[in-house]
Amino acid sequence: MINFKTFFISTAIDYPSSRPHLGHAYEKISTDIIARFKRLQGYDVHFSTGTDEHGIKMQKSAERAGKSPKQFVDEMSVYFRELCKVLNISHDDFIRTTEKRHEKAVMAVYNAVKKHGDIYKGFYEGLYCVECETFYTESEAPEGLCPTHKKALDNVKEESYFFRMGKYQRALINHIKKNKDFIVPESRRNEILSRLREPLHDLSISRVSLKWGIPLPDDKKHVMYVWMDALVNYLSTIGYPEKRYNKYWPAVHVIGKDIVWHHTVIWGSILLSAGIKLPRTVLVHGFVNIGGEKMAKSRGTVIDPIELVQKYGSDYLRFFLAREIPYGEDGDFSEEALVDRVNNELIDNYGNLFYRATHFTKTNFGGKVPKANLGKDEKRIAQLMKETKKSVEKHMDDYRIDFALKEIINLSSHVNKYFQKKQPWAASKEKAATTIYTAINALRTITILLQPYIPDAASKALKALNVRKIDWKDVDKFAIKPGTKIDAIILFKKIDEKELRKKEDALEIKKVKHEAVPLSRGNFVKLEDFQRLDLRVGTIIDVKDHPNADKLILLKVDIGGEVRQLVAGLKQIYSKEELKGKQVVVLINLEPAVLRGEKSEGMLLACDDGTIISPLKKVKEGLKVR
Ligand code: MSP
Repeated sequence: MINFKTFFISTAIDYPSSRPHLGHAYEKISTDIIARFKRLQGYDVHFSTGTDEHGIKMQKSAERAGKSPKQFVDEMSVYFRELCKVLNISHDDFIRTTEKRHEKAVMAVYNAVKKHGDIYKGFYEGLYCVECETFYTESEAPEGLCPTHKKALDNVKEESYFFRMGKYQRALINHIKKNKDFIVPESRRNEILSRLREPLHDLSISRVSLKWGIPLPDDKKHVMYVWMDALVNYLSTIGYPEKRYNKYWPAVHVIGKDIVWHHTVIWGSILLSAGIKLPRTVLVHGFVNIGGEKMAKSRGTVIDPIELVQKYGSDYLRFFLAREIPYGEDGDFSEEALVDRVNNELIDNYGNLFYRATHFTKTNFGGKVPKANLGKDEKRIAQLMKETKKSVEKHMDDYRIDFALKEIINLSSHVNKYFQKKQPWAASKEKAATTIYTAINALRTITILLQPYIPDAASKALKALNVRKIDWKDVDKFAIKPGTKIDAIILFKKIDEKELRKKEDALEIKKVKHEAVPLSRGNFVKLEDFQRLDLRVGTIIDVKDHPNADKLILLKVDIGGEVRQLVAGLKQIYSKEELKGKQVVVLINLEPAVLRGEKSEGMLLACDDGTIISPLKKVKEGLKVR
């Protein structure tokens, strides 16, 4: 049978300039939960994710790694595929912007926009942030700093092609006002509407100073602006410019709060110009923070999700992120909270019920679901199953994966209480049979609803319950018939923190043995710590006294256009004037394993006259020396 109900959902495509972090994982997990849920409901889903591989940011990262851009992105993109795999992401396509099919779609969109008379040549002069690959006006970037990255912006002055974005301001405002679900949640919608009260400028869409990107078809010395290139991935993944793209378009784009403008205003106006429908919804999630703050390399708080999965497994991480973070808002990650939620809400509640009910069936009813005689309490459970399914549906229609999960956990708590109240172990066989029949059927409903969140465990559980086919309309019914053979299994193992620590220690010791290089007798530095070292040459552009420490000074160092603030104790060696303009060597990435407790955004190692500022000993101390 042909399925006419289609649903297209995408994540943003990630910059593979460094390895994936927990924020990337969160976006993929939340999108996967929605995609799996829609499939359960019977939709023919297309779910895309991928990597955004062109632009200045990637070009510079490749240079730093001493590789060609192509070699660099080929290698780095693998980590993002790997991330999808370990997180159990059910994407249908992983798209890379360096693929031919993508280039073809970009050309087609560009030509459509051009045909519409919306491209013209001009001269661009303004501010640019390489980190977010975005132009800023002076009012958007006070003091010349990027509003997102707080780093000094580049001054760009060059010939450029422009897209007549300003022309679409009215149409965009109308669309946003008319279509309440175009930007979700409402707070983000209001933000964009308020920004659109200011005049909308045309967009510079090409660079001559950049080599790494898609050349403009009609003027090859210009390379396409990376966002104009990247956004089109949502069309290339579904076969645009071929007509078949219509099967899935328009999409739901899941993105983080930092790129809403790009996905609504820039993407929206490009589509309007090219004569393509606007996305169904731009669904904006918040950021995963650590200790209430944005993850930052300089503070060593960038969390590697692949390591987390190795430690806890993908189901636990998925469950935790979906449960803990209010969808659409920022939330905090901590391992303590993860252990707490998983142990108490997943394992003690659902896992425990699953084991007790299936085990009781095995020992008392030969593993076969018994016949029941439903009374008032059972009818109440049946009612709760129906209500839960309904409210889960409603929350998922609003894309509140967190609220939906809470409802499912609540249902599980109710069934647990019911089981406890009925005490089948102390009841007559007939009464016990009714309790077991009810609990097993409720477990089926709970498990199916949990499946998008914990696909691994749910698939084992459904197999044990002998559930082979799921029909969405029967999800809240007592569909497991008496006589059905089921298995008793333990779905989860409680996270034992002591046990975990022992495991970690053992792993660490093993790692040191295999990966460490001796510095001197008894001292070891892990190879991976050395690999993380990022040494760069910069120029001191500003020197100030430290506000709180007599012996220290504050330096601003320009490292290839990126300005870092360093704290140094150079007063005895140089005067402030001597330092200005000096070339220095800076150790950039202060990751936790590399340097601890350092607040500045780098460490000064040496000056161009050969003075070693920071004795190597200090660097060695900072490294995780064993
Ligand atoms: N390449 C662009 C997107 C182009 S889409 C056509 C980009 N890449 S990114 O790697 O910087 O970010 C990818 C996604 O991860 C974005 O949606 C971004 O908002 C999200 N996140 C980045 N850091 C995050 C957190 N700390 N928490 C949650 N999501 C975050 O932007």
